Amino acid sequence: MNWHEIDQKAKQWIYEAGERIRQSFQQKLVVEAKSSPNDLVTNIDREVEHFFWENIRKTFPEHSILGEEGSGHELKSLDGIVWIIDPIDGTMNFVHQKRNFCISVAVFADGVGQIGLIYDVVRDEMYHAIRGNGAYLNKTELPPLQKKTIEESIIGLNASWLVENRRIDPAILSPLVKRLRGTRSFGSAALEFAYVAAGKLDGYITMRLAPWDFAAGLILVDEVGGVTTTLDGKPVDLLKKQSIFTANQTIHQQIIEEYIKGKI
Ligand code: IPD
Ligand code: CA
Ligand code: CA
Ligand code: CA
Repeated sequence: MNWHEIDQKAKQWIYEAGERIRQSFQQKLVVEAKSSPNDLVTNIDREVEHFFWENIRKTFPEHSILGEEGSGHELKSLDGIVWIIDPIDGTMNFVHQKRNFCISVAVFADGVGQIGLIYDVVRDEMYHAIRGNGAYLNKTELPPLQKKTIEESIIGLNASWLVENRRIDPAILSPLVKRLRGTRSFGSAALEFAYVAAGKLDGYITMRLAPWDFAAGLILVDEVGGVTTTLDGKPVDLLKKQSIFTANQTIHQQIIEEYIKGKI
């Protein structure tokens, strides 16, 4: 299998989908709520996923597809080649801000991430990686992540994990937040992964992500020497929702040891 050929196709489809999304800014969106009033989906999320689904089916009929808006939710294994797609990551930003969202596409082969693509549609920024070939932002190679201390680090973290919630005692993360240089919350998990890969964030912590939120990001972060696990340091499962902690490797282990171990 030639990963460069698949990568070229995937990028071509992403740029086409990006153009379609930018055009949609002139039109009225159809917005619906899914599992809760804040869990939004639009006609464009569905259209873009369908666009990838049709193109992949036609070009690579033997590949499987797992996408947020319905494709492959019955998938039980990562055998063979699997595309993991979030047609719009950051739908709430897309609806409310018309910025700070992206398209996330990953290609896995027998469970190993081969291609990771995260496209910031409004800034026209493509974060991309082919396993073993480094990670790039457009044409510029991203350097390996620099050594950092916790005091020098900025971590992506939603305020929801610092107030009462169903998944973590807020008292666990607040001492870490006090010690960090700062926290940020961008509202798009995939973009937050891309920012970790680019050194704009030193880590990103969240209590619940689906595979399509982090599949491409994981590959990008890997390529610059970062580490991605569940928040308690276990390997991630590409077929499940779980907590996620991606970071610069100099702070990843230290944060787990000092703030998380034995507490969740
Ligand atoms: C969501 C975004 C958000 C994260 C949520 C995701 P969506 O994805 O990545 O930042 O906090 O957990 O579900 O629904 O906009 O694709
Ligand atoms: Ca969603
Ligand atoms: Ca998402
Ligand atoms: Ca989505």
